[in-house]
Amino acid sequence: MSGILLQARQANKRDGITGALICRRDIYLQLLEGPEKAVRAAYARIRQDDRHLELRLHVTEPVAQRLFGNWAMLHDPAKSLIWSPEELTDTRRAALFPAELRRVFDRLAAVAHGAR
Ligand SMILES: Cc1cc2nc3c(=O)[nH]c(=O)nc-3n(C[C@H](O)[C@H](O)[C@H](O)COP(=O)(O)O)c2cc1C
Repeated sequence: MSGILLQARQANKRDGITGALICRRDIYLQLLEGPEKAVRAAYARIRQDDRHLELRLHVTEPVAQRLFGNWAMLHDPAKSLIWSPEELTDTRRAALFPAELRRVFDRLAAVAHGAR
């Protein structure tokens, strides 16, 4: 994990990308923000990476403001997740609602900003 974060943060600093990675044994949730071209390129690299089993793109959208502008990749050990492992069945995991995902990252951003 620390290797992934080190590599991600280095590349993200270079590319003007910020974001957050929430990790739990059953799911990783990542938010990437930055210039569209750079974010798409990072996503393409992550797709190629064999350190994950299954990758799914849930939301892509233009945003007026970054949530994690101060973090090349904030790491959260899943404290922000709103689902228990039991709730995250395969079917559920495959179709997380954009509003739920926003809630998770909004909560994490609020905590992160408060903690600084
Ligand atoms: C869970 C996970 C998250 C990652 N997040 C990023 C990221 O935010 N930015 C990034 O550039 N690479 C990220 N990577 C690493 C990329 O998959 C890739 O190893 C890295 O960008 C170097 O690619 P390259 O060897 O083609 O240059 C992540 C990998 C994993 C497994």
